[in-house]
Amino acid sequence: MASTEPPAARPTLAVLFVCLGNICRSPMGEAVFRHRTSSDPRIKLVDSAGTESYNVGNSPDERTMAVLQDHGIVDYSHVARKVKKSDFARFDYILAMDRSNLRDLQVLRQRAATRGNADKLAHVVLFGDYGGELGEEIIDPWYGELEGFEIAYEQLVRFSDGFVKKVLDVDHES
Ligand code: 4NP
Repeated sequence: MASTEPPAARPTLAVLFVCLGNICRSPMGEAVFRHRTSSDPRIKLVDSAGTESYNVGNSPDERTMAVLQDHGIVDYSHVARKVKKSDFARFDYILAMDRSNLRDLQVLRQRAATRGNADKLAHVVLFGDYGGELGEEIIDPWYGELEGFEIAYEQLVRFSDGFVKKVLDVDHES
């Protein structure tokens, strides 16, 4: 017999990528994740930010844009911004690129918590935990050569696919 119940609303997710400067790794993460989930209605918001304000207002590093372009991602633009308190209420997941970013985010999350809302704030996770082995970091490529940006790209693809499998396909099965 056909159910008269309306279909359950599909849970949706808001995801924020975070590194230090928000010009190299986290915008690349945002672009890669957007690209790979562009037709997925479960993703409602994707953004990126930095823990520091050195580059606020700047476009992504040209090496980030070059690597994205080499992989067919040509429609991405971003203006760097710093993580803010409201991000912890707005996003379901805040994904750190390295352990230092993770520690900074954990402190900020604690500061954003008030009595009664702590368990409703974003999950703060090292993005590399979705790559197959816990604790994999994305080394900051800013000080190095283009190769570091290529390595970051490969990691971000792997982590994005792992995140979708682990968080969306498992936790949000409907
Ligand atoms: P990101 O790399 O954290 O991957 O964006 C950096 C970019 C700029 C700086 C540091 C890291 N900086 O010191 O300006």
